[in-house]
Amino acid sequence: MNDPRRRGPQRPDSHTKWGSQDVSADSLIAPYGGALASLIVDGARRAVLQRESRDWPSVDLSPRQLCDLELLLSGAFSPLDGFMVRSDHDRVCTEMRLGTGVLWPLPVTLDVPEALAVKLQPGQPLALRDPEGVMLAALQVEDVWKPDLRREAELTLGTTHERHPGVLRLLRETGAFYVGGRLEGIQLPVHYDFRLLRHSPAELRAEFNKRGWRRIVAFQTRNPIHRPHHVFSGRAASELQANLLIHPVVGVTKPGDVDYFTRVRSYQAVMHRYPRHSAMLSLLPLAMRMAGPREALLHAIVRRNHGCTHFLVGRDHAGPGADRGGKPFYEPYAAQELISRHQEELGIEMVGVHELGYVPETGEYAALDEVPAGCSVRRVSGSEVRRRLVEGRPIPDWMSFPEVVKELKRTYRPRHLQGFTVLFTGLSGAGKSTLANVLLVRLLEMGGRPVTLLDGDIVRKNLSSELTFSREHRDINIRRIGFVAAEITKNGGIAICAPIAPYAAVRDTVRQMISEVGGFVLVHVSTPLEVCEVRDRKGMYAKARSGIIKEFTGVSDPYEVPTDAELVIDTSELSPDQGVQQVLLYLEKERYVMGAMDNGG
Ligand code: PPS
Repeated sequence: MNDPRRRGPQRPDSHTKWGSQDVSADSLIAPYGGALASLIVDGARRAVLQRESRDWPSVDLSPRQLCDLELLLSGAFSPLDGFMVRSDHDRVCTEMRLGTGVLWPLPVTLDVPEALAVKLQPGQPLALRDPEGVMLAALQVEDVWKPDLRREAELTLGTTHERHPGVLRLLRETGAFYVGGRLEGIQLPVHYDFRLLRHSPAELRAEFNKRGWRRIVAFQTRNPIHRPHHVFSGRAASELQANLLIHPVVGVTKPGDVDYFTRVRSYQAVMHRYPRHSAMLSLLPLAMRMAGPREALLHAIVRRNHGCTHFLVGRDHAGPGADRGGKPFYEPYAAQELISRHQEELGIEMVGVHELGYVPETGEYAALDEVPAGCSVRRVSGSEVRRRLVEGRPIPDWMSFPEVVKELKRTYRPRHLQGFTVLFTGLSGAGKSTLANVLLVRLLEMGGRPVTLLDGDIVRKNLSSELTFSREHRDINIRRIGFVAAEITKNGGIAICAPIAPYAAVRDTVRQMISEVGGFVLVHVSTPLEVCEVRDRKGMYAKARSGIIKEFTGVSDPYEVPTDAELVIDTSELSPDQGVQQVLLYLEKERYVMGAMDNGG
């Protein structure tokens, strides 16, 4: 591995060969580490690997792992030549350096479950496959170890707070073992979407050469481009006299972000606002870690490998937002400071951008610290734009572009046109099914959207007939209900669910799954146990008390009372009609259904 510190940025201007027809690849900035580590093997080697791999252990990669693999194989993570071994991983965590001393900010590791890890030995190959089972690469295993994931979170993300999506991923979604070693690539993961907009580092460099671009500023983003983003990216390119690469992430971003199909359509729609011959759009299949400053460094390295000489870093770059107390995980300009400290080694020049706000008095955008005296300022956030979309409120022209808003509106329909789920949770006999049935007919009376009832008993008969009432099986049952409800919600329907759902963690999982695709309303049917037991409509409590039914919720099994319910309804105090009226009022207030006023009634 070469040390990029010895190379630094190669100023394209110093290499101009006026007499030459061919603007050679040399005229672009050198990749980080000197050369692009493209890890795809030739046809003969590929055939050997494919033949031999029949007897190897193999692993199907997750979407996140596929992204990492793609950037490794394509050379975007040069000089890495595989998933990190333990010594690299440990030094990256503690010192931000690879074993060789090269600056590298974040682990790029392959996690596997214990069941696979115990089968792996150093010196053995492991086949890496896509979800369909197609072999994409062979990993020559050098190291298998159990990492301390909490420590990794602390060192690389600066927190172990599970509100941080990177922490959540490490502590909840990461396999217990890491496997490190060199990669031999068979093929890059296949993408059928937006093919013409996807470029490996070598392809993008070739494209830059074709266009005669040598000074290129990259704009990394995971959000739609609204007016302020357009202003600062355009200004930066013109001030630097550089060409502009709009380089959005289409791999894995922060949960809750605008989906990339919508974003890409919105980028395509806005490109005409940049100078035609000096801006281009290319998509990057990166899995973000939301690691703030350290991630900004990684983004810079990746852009240098793609041939960019400059890199825009704004406020709270790659930041995950704030913790529960509202405190941001990273200082707003910490990413800019970290990059500045390593500017020389990185070799790509940072262009620090301060947050812009709209100044109505001048009709222009200005950095917040440069607003003319006596003028007011309005800040724009992507979340504010999205809130307005789902609430069906107008988006002023100074915030965004009509063509971007039009694309976003195709996805973010106002709430009364979106799907939603109402999940009733509570003890057996609490009145969940009755409320659910009354709500069903009231919504059917209103019309407009298909309504599906997923009652506890119905689900147990149809979807989950093989399941018991153990905690594990109850969680599977609720996850299944959540999956079906999410599909219904995603496609604009209404799902009414009425399981006991006694455990908070899985209720929370379902909330997250559904909130990503539409509305979610948790209703705690809080009818006291004594009342449910007196009702005992199915004779279940009597059986539970006499021990005929085991693990009965409220009697011999726990019910974790929700602390996050949108509504609490006690059916010992309210009739079914009154209870459902509360739900309808809530749905109207949140604009999921049209109220009397909206109907003109
Ligand atoms: S869970 O915990 O959400 O998976 O339960 P759910 O699928 O909603 O349960 C549906 C009905 O199963 C009956 N039943 C039991 N409930 C709780 N605990 C035990 N051990 C049990 N065994 C059977 C019970 O009547 C549930 O129906 P409802 O409509 O809630 O009364």
